[in-house]
Amino acid sequence: MKRIALIAGDAHPQLAREIAQRSGAEMIPATIAAFADGETRIRIEGEVRGTDLYIVQPTSAPTNERLMNLALLADAARCEDAARITAVVPYFGYARQDMRNRPGEPRSAQVAARILKCAGVDRVVTLELHSAALESAFEVPLTNLLADEAMLPVVRGWRLPGLVVVSPDAGGLKRAQRYAAALAAPLAAIVKTRPRDDVAVALQVLGEVRGRACLIVDDMASTGRTIAGAAQALLEAGAREVHALFIHAVMAPGALDRIASAGVQKIATTDSIPAARDPRVEVVATAALFADAVVQLAGEARR
Ligand code: R5P
Repeated sequence: MKRIALIAGDAHPQLAREIAQRSGAEMIPATIAAFADGETRIRIEGEVRGTDLYIVQPTSAPTNERLMNLALLADAARCEDAARITAVVPYFGYARQDMRNRPGEPRSAQVAARILKCAGVDRVVTLELHSAALESAFEVPLTNLLADEAMLPVVRGWRLPGLVVVSPDAGGLKRAQRYAAALAAPLAAIVKTRPRDDVAVALQVLGEVRGRACLIVDDMASTGRTIAGAAQALLEAGAREVHALFIHAVMAPGALDRIASAGVQKIATTDSIPAARDPRVEVVATAALFADAVVQLAGEARR
């Protein structure tokens, strides 16, 4: 029977430890440091030969560094003869750059996925990838977990009468639809445009929101402009109150203040990316989700 081992990258060691505890995986220490010239120096400090190995590393900011560190850890594990290497990437950076919007642009998400494969990753486990289209960019088996089971109890606990679930843009419709169905609530959507990078403008509200409690559901908040713009548009359209749920708290500086000052009252997210605690945000733990995935994949590998 293969040993189940887990290495924490440098991005989210606490989540990695929790996943190891819950899944029973053995934590293998690794050194992630830097040479004087800034190049990363990696060393796996324990025995991984023959293991079913999980490397936990969200590729959140600084994205290039986190991605490279993950790739180097995978290559080190490959050199040490790990039997199977699974990258557990709770937040997959570059996912939003999954298509070329203008000539001259790269397909950055596809490149990020390819880097992992080239480094020796056999399988990827992630949470709520930005788009379903991106799933096909992974040339290794992919497990794309959903946070619904973890998030829904929080929203139910808010007890919001007259609830409407709102997608803040066309890309989020499927996700919002799922939450609307689970909460037995109607669905509304925002027509959004991006005049410039990192700027989002809500053009129109589709659906009936007057007098309702609106729950904006999105995969991430980065600048917070998508959610803030949606909240303003909903309140202008007569919404009674606005709340927001997003899976990944990318949170560029000022994002939370922007969201809160747009009138968003309750906010929930996950711990897929480490974040400073703030009393305005309810953070839902994801360790159990990932640990269950590890246990399941390890079981399948044994069969
Ligand atoms: C867009 O397609 C995404 O689903 C999010 O709505 C967006 O990335 C959020 O970014 P920001 O908070 O900067 O508006």
